[in-house]
Amino acid sequence: MMISALKNISLAVPEILFGLGVIGELGNRIRSLGADRVMVVTDEGVAAAGILKRVLGILEKSGPACTVFDKVEKEPSTENVEHAFKEASESSSQLIIGLGGGSSIDVAKMVAVLLRHGGNLLDYMGLDKVPGRGIPTILVPTTAGTGSEVSKYAIFDNRKAKTKLGAVSNYLLADLAVVDPELTLSMPPAVTASTGADAFIHAVEGYLAVKSSPLSELFALEAVRIIYENLPAAFADGQNIRARYQMAYGSMLAGIVLNVAGASSSHALAYPVGSEYHVPHGVGCMLTFLEVMKYFAMADLPKFSRLARAMGVKTETMSLRQAAEQALEEMRKLVEYIEIPHKLSAIKMDRNLIEPFARSVVANQQRLLTNGPRVLTVKDIQNIYERSY
Ligand SMILES: [Fe+2]
Repeated sequence: MMISALKNISLAVPEILFGLGVIGELGNRIRSLGADRVMVVTDEGVAAAGILKRVLGILEKSGPACTVFDKVEKEPSTENVEHAFKEASESSSQLIIGLGGGSSIDVAKMVAVLLRHGGNLLDYMGLDKVPGRGIPTILVPTTAGTGSEVSKYAIFDNRKAKTKLGAVSNYLLADLAVVDPELTLSMPPAVTASTGADAFIHAVEGYLAVKSSPLSELFALEAVRIIYENLPAAFADGQNIRARYQMAYGSMLAGIVLNVAGASSSHALAYPVGSEYHVPHGVGCMLTFLEVMKYFAMADLPKFSRLARAMGVKTETMSLRQAAEQALEEMRKLVEYIEIPHKLSAIKMDRNLIEPFARSVVANQQRLLTNGPRVLTVKDIQNIYERSY
């Protein structure tokens, strides 16, 4: 083996509490972090599902004064973060609980930073721009998808530039991630599909990433295996607690993979589409995922062959190329099982936007594009959008 193939290994994760019913620990954990005033950052869907009420009941018993910001948007804008920050500073919150999908959790992360450091949110967007840890955060996912509860990312919609902006910093890691699969039981099938698809794409893109390490690849292949096996079951029967448990675990593993390896081109191509059409993030990524994978497969046949094995394909008698093609086939089947939109025609995207979107991706998403096994050009991206129509 060449010395250059021996990669350095690093891993940054928050403390994790994972399991059925662990949400009951929340009060004790807040006390041990020494907070008397907490704010729960969440959205109306979480409130409507009764999850917020359950969490507030737990907090009531343990005593901290609690305020709620339940106005997190589906794809939160930077203005939405400012709004939550204003309410959190008026209530002198000492700890932020992010409760919900990736949107609520990402808003919670940045509110915690703004409370401690002030400043302008836009200055913190980009790689390692956050000046230090925020006030303490406890992040509690109610979906199994983004992995944001364990990740160092916070992604927002920049309405003016019509694209997504991300802050990436180890300072955004939670003080504690509380992952209780019971909180995901009320997700409707379409949300199970879009969030689960996001987790699957994190695992696959992270596995294939230039920045991957032996440690992240271990987590990534395991996440691919778990999500491939359990997402159809969670989609078919939302009350299947075993499938929900596995999906919460798989998406958390995939979130850890993101911290090390990062995502790549399906995410890059999704950002202008998601910003213009406001589709759920997982749907946005899935709209071009299968075509991006066709571009990637021939660039790394050995890795695609291992992806096939993680999805249950017996590759022993296959050539590397046959195994890679089988991996693509299993991905296509998974997408069909969960009935998720995976063609740009499904959202009636204006074909005239293909060229400007491709240019926007190359201009704004180099961090993601250069992390794939094959770096896509404007022409490649136009082709992928066309074939995804
Ligand atoms: Fe994602």
